[in-house]
Amino acid sequence: MCGIVGYIGDEQAAPILLDGLSRLEYRGYDSAGMAVYDGQKINVVKSKGRLKILNELTHGGETLPGMLGIGHTRWATHGEPSDTNAHPHYNSDESIVVVHNGIIENYLKLKKKLEAHGYEFRSETDTEVIAQLLDFYYKGNPLQAITKIMHRMEGSYALGIIFKDHPDELYAVRKDSPLIVGHAKTGNIIASDVPAILRYTRDVYFIENEEIVRMTKDTMEFFNVDEEPIEKTSTRIEWDVNAAEKGGYEHFMLKEMYEQPKAITDTFSPRIKDGKIVIEELGMTDEEIRAIKKIMIVACGSAYHTGMTSKYIYEGLARIPVEVDLASEFRYRNPILEEGTLVIIISQSGETADSLAALREAKKRGARVLGIVNVVGSSIAREADNVMYTWAGPEIAVATTKAYSAQLIAQYLLAMKFAYVRGKLDDAGLASMLDDLRELPSQVEMLLNNKEKIQKFANRYLAAREVFFIGRGIDYAISMEGSLKLKEISYIHSEAYAAGELKHGTISLIEDGTLVTAVLTQPDLYKKMISNIVEVKTRGAFVLAVTNTGNTEVEKTADYVIYIPETNRYFTNSLAIIPLQLFGYYVSIGKGCDVDKPRNLAKSVTVE
Ligand code: M6R
Repeated sequence: MCGIVGYIGDEQAAPILLDGLSRLEYRGYDSAGMAVYDGQKINVVKSKGRLKILNELTHGGETLPGMLGIGHTRWATHGEPSDTNAHPHYNSDESIVVVHNGIIENYLKLKKKLEAHGYEFRSETDTEVIAQLLDFYYKGNPLQAITKIMHRMEGSYALGIIFKDHPDELYAVRKDSPLIVGHAKTGNIIASDVPAILRYTRDVYFIENEEIVRMTKDTMEFFNVDEEPIEKTSTRIEWDVNAAEKGGYEHFMLKEMYEQPKAITDTFSPRIKDGKIVIEELGMTDEEIRAIKKIMIVACGSAYHTGMTSKYIYEGLARIPVEVDLASEFRYRNPILEEGTLVIIISQSGETADSLAALREAKKRGARVLGIVNVVGSSIAREADNVMYTWAGPEIAVATTKAYSAQLIAQYLLAMKFAYVRGKLDDAGLASMLDDLRELPSQVEMLLNNKEKIQKFANRYLAAREVFFIGRGIDYAISMEGSLKLKEISYIHSEAYAAGELKHGTISLIEDGTLVTAVLTQPDLYKKMISNIVEVKTRGAFVLAVTNTGNTEVEKTADYVIYIPETNRYFTNSLAIIPLQLFGYYVSIGKGCDVDKPRNLAKSVTVE
């Protein structure tokens, strides 16, 4: 995610901003910038790429003199990574400057309104809209202008703001995006995350939603959205810097698992408007959606598994035939792409070599290509005809969790949209599915909070030689991901099988004590799955079952049962995967493996 640092005090601001931003680098970013007030004007330097470039451009901050400044590392959301789209952003006469973390969901509406008043925009970002909106409402009182824009903006934001007319003040405000402030020895500092501030102070104020801070070099005042002063108490941070970078979590993988509720919400909420699914970036008319004859999903690893899950949904719900292929196979198999085939390439990084080659191959053959991508401005995002972003934020652990969850959500939205447009889902059906979708974040959180139970179970299997995952239909797709999660980070051999296939070979591998994880989330397949559980138990397997709340029948057969909350039958993957991710994670750390950077693996596979 983006990073914010701001400083007002007796020292030169730029070196402090650079230092603070460097402490936020671990979060991932694609561009960086600073704005510093030099006594006469606010100077901005920003650039696409690493912080090193900003450092060089400003000679370590020397060429940007001044004791009031804001800095930013950007993870692109609106508009590709570029010098122009990098923060900070000015208003038209460069008297107001803003850095922003978060997403302004109604920015297009606000932009149109401002354009109608003669405002012009230099960038594609939602942040520039904030700067111009401040300009629109600013009548000499910064606090008033800030509260006015808070009433107009929908979405999430943490902002650092400088007004040239108020050169002794630094403003900050937040809603649904973290922000902290602290008294340093030589002044006051704001930051989006603890590591940026720890070198200067350990006593910080956590800004709550819709709170505003006005700081001078010596004072700090807090206000609510009605401009009323509020009292706040500071908190002493005892973490070491390493722990702080992981937000207090032991590993990035655990942190990212806990970010799943937010990744899910951020991916669906901007695309649900007035009870309907609106995916503008799809760029397809209803007529074009109705003309789709086939969907071909192409991806690698976990992204491929989300494609496997969504096949059942596109086919079951929208009645569109789907083929799912591994990118490394697709690119060399002379695929048949008839007219009316929509190719969907799924990728977290947007740089996976095989997926990119598959995209090029599909385009060469005349297919329309939709990318489902997490990294804005990545190669797949740029080269696809249309791109639907997953808003999971930067993922650092090699084993994907939150990007995987966001990919599932993107495909649920597409499947529901296609089904609705093609007359396979009526208003009531859509409304009920959207209700279930909105429940997913809190349900995921509940499952995550049950982690100790999984940890205890995982500790019994640290010495396992192999583990099997079985399921039918969507549950087979979940099993594939559960199996990959376990093997890639714990180095225990594991395999996923369509439960009906067991008898065709695999069952000969089951012996006394072999762990078999059975996933049963599809009620019409419960009985079949229970027969499969009985079969492996007869051969000595120990069975861990993951099933829906209420399916207590399974307790008669399985040895250990984990229940997931009730949801739409097509969304169960989003819940059933949580205990399986936790299982892989706890086995890995129990064995002492490097869970965030497993051996032989890279986060982004940019070579074939
Ligand atoms: O960046 P991508 O989504 O294209 O990456 C695809 C796979 O390399 C990735 O999902 C990989 O399987 C992960 N390590 C799984 O956790």
